[in-house]
Amino acid sequence: MNSKKSYEVQRMSSLVASLHSVCSTTCCVEAGGGRGHLPVALTLGYGVPSLTIDCDEKTINSAAQRIKIIQKQWHAIAKKIHSGNEEQVSRGINKDLHRFASAYMTRHTDLAAIVRDKFPEHSNKNIKLLLTGKT
Ligand SMILES: C[S@@+](CC[C@H](N)C(=O)[O-])C[C@H]1O[C@@H](n2cnc3c(N)ncnc32)[C@H](O)[C@@H]1O
Repeated sequence: MNSKKSYEVQRMSSLVASLHSVCSTTCCVEAGGGRGHLPVALTLGYGVPSLTIDCDEKTINSAAQRIKIIQKQWHAIAKKIHSGNEEQVSRGINKDLHRFASAYMTRHTDLAAIVRDKFPEHSNKNIKLLLTGKT
């Protein structure tokens, strides 16, 4: 990730995490999430359950591999974001809060159904989504 992207992800993740908290959403869904930069920052940095939806399975598969590596390196990165606050740092690491879904989205796509499928722990709840996306 270049420095411009990294800056955007840091600023956006903070903003979206605040929205998640204020609006009590079930999870964040990144439409056309590609490599999942924002959702991964949301889960690791802020403990926000997040779903990356993308139609390109190749992108998703390589991103999943990359995320495994990031998770290993995350402690140092998260410490910077949270100024060394250990509780916040470990919150996102210990839970499997980020998931991928491969789907071609249209205006008819039932996002709540995809979330229920990927987060079975929320399947009985009223799903409240926080939708993000950037081209
Ligand atoms: C330029 S990338 C942006 C990735 C990410 N949002 C970011 O900012 O890093 C756009 C992504 O949207 C995906 N995409 C485009 N149209 C889509 C659709 N209708 N449904 C799902 N994914 C789509 C592409 O496969 C691609 O990975």
